[in-house]
Amino acid sequence: MTAARFRSGAHPLSGSCGVPGDKSISHRGALLAMMAVGRSRIRNFSTAGDCATTVRVLRQLGVPVHRHGVELHVDGRGVERLSAPAGPLDCGRSGTTIRLLAGVLAGAQFRSVLGGDDQLLRRPMARVAEPLGRMGARVTTSRAGTAPLTIDGGALRGIQYRLPVASAQVKSAVLLAGLQASGVTTVVEEAATRDHTERLIQAMGASLEVSRSVAGELRTAVRAATLDPVDLVVPGDFSSAAPLIVAATLVPGSDVVIDDVGLNPTRTGLLRVLDRMGADIDVELAVAEPEPRGRVRIRSAELAGTSVTAVEVPAIIDELPLVGLLGAAATGRTEVRGAQELRAKESDRIRGLVSGLRALGADADELPDGFVVHGPATLRGGRCDAAGDHRLAMTFTVAGLIAGGPVHVDGSEFVADSFPAFFSSLRHLGGAA
Ligand code: S3P
Repeated sequence: MTAARFRSGAHPLSGSCGVPGDKSISHRGALLAMMAVGRSRIRNFSTAGDCATTVRVLRQLGVPVHRHGVELHVDGRGVERLSAPAGPLDCGRSGTTIRLLAGVLAGAQFRSVLGGDDQLLRRPMARVAEPLGRMGARVTTSRAGTAPLTIDGGALRGIQYRLPVASAQVKSAVLLAGLQASGVTTVVEEAATRDHTERLIQAMGASLEVSRSVAGELRTAVRAATLDPVDLVVPGDFSSAAPLIVAATLVPGSDVVIDDVGLNPTRTGLLRVLDRMGADIDVELAVAEPEPRGRVRIRSAELAGTSVTAVEVPAIIDELPLVGLLGAAATGRTEVRGAQELRAKESDRIRGLVSGLRALGADADELPDGFVVHGPATLRGGRCDAAGDHRLAMTFTVAGLIAGGPVHVDGSEFVADSFPAFFSSLRHLGGAA
C-alpha cells in the first residue's frame, strides 16, 4: 500500500484545470449504449478505474467496444443479443457497475454471476436483488445479502417501487430493468437522488415521466423501449472537482478555476453547503443537454460551521468526507445527520473520516448516522488510513495542505478508482510537494 506525503503550509493554489469525465455518467453511457441498437460514441469518457471495469464487463458480454483514450465507441445490439458470459463478471470495486448491470441482466435470457474484489463483496446487494426479484428475475445473493449475485434473467413485469434507501444505483437498476419489462415501472423516492440515468434514457429516445406528489415525493416512470444510440460528451466529474474546490477554499490566498464541470443540481449539494459556510465561489452555468455543465471559480475564504440534514444528503453523498474537513477548519460546530449510507460505501466513511481527522488533531465524533466536528482546529501532521477508499484518500490529502506538518495517507493509490490524475492536478495548481 502506498503512503502519499503532502507538504504542509502549502502556497496558495492558483490557475485553472479540468477534471476527468463524470464517473456516474460514463458508467451509464456505456451500459445504456450496450442496451441500444447501433453505434454510440461517448467522448470524455471517465479515466476512473471503476469505468474501465464497466468497459471490461461489456467485453465479457460480447459487446464490441473500442476505446481510444477518452473516446469510447460501443456497438450495441440490445440485451437480447448479449452473449452468455463464460465465467463470473468481474465488477472490481465498483458499486455502480454491479448494481446497474444487475438491472440490465435481469432481462437477459441467460444466467450471469456478478462478483468483484473483497471490498465490493462486503457491500449490500439485497437492495437490488429484492426489486428485480419482484419484477420476475431470479436474483440470489450470499446469506449476508452481498455479492456474488447470481441472476437468472427473463421476462420482466413493471412494478411500482418505493426506494427504502436513497440510492441512485438502486433507482437506476429498477429503471434499466423497467426498459425491458411489460407495463409501467415506477420508482418513488422521498429525496431526489442523481438523475443521470433518466436524462440519458430520454436523450436516447425513450419516454420517461417524472412527477412530484403534493407530499414532495418524486415518481419516475418508464416503459419498455428500444434505445437509439447516443453521441455524448461527458462533462467533468463534480465529485473529482470537489476536493480541488475544498483545497482552494481552505488554503489562504488561493484562486482557482475548474473548467467544464458537471453542474447537475442532484450532484452539487457541496456548493450549497459551501455557500452557507461563507465560501467565495462563482459558478458560470452553460445550458447544455443532456447534462448542465459550466465553470467554477473558487477563492479562499474563512468559513463558519453548518448542519447538513437528511434531505440534503443525496446531492452531497460522495462529498460528505470533505464536509468533515471543512468543519475542522470552520469556526463553530459542523454536523452531518441522516447519512448512515456513508457506512455502506467503499469503506465505513463515518468511522474512517473521524479517525483520520482525529489523527490530525481535529475535534470530531461519530454519530450513528453522521458526524460532528468542532472547529477551527489547528491541524497537525500525522498518518491517516484511507481504508482502501478513494474519497477518504483525497480528503486526507487536502487536509495535508493545511496541516502544520506532513500528512501520510495510507492507501493513496486508491484515488485511481475515480481520479487517477488527482495528485498531478493538485500539483498543477501548486498544491503538492
Ligand atoms: C452513484 C450513486 C451513489 C454514489 C456513488 C455513485 C451512482 O451511490 O455514492 O458514488 O453513480 O449512481 P448510492 O446509489 O449507493 O447512493
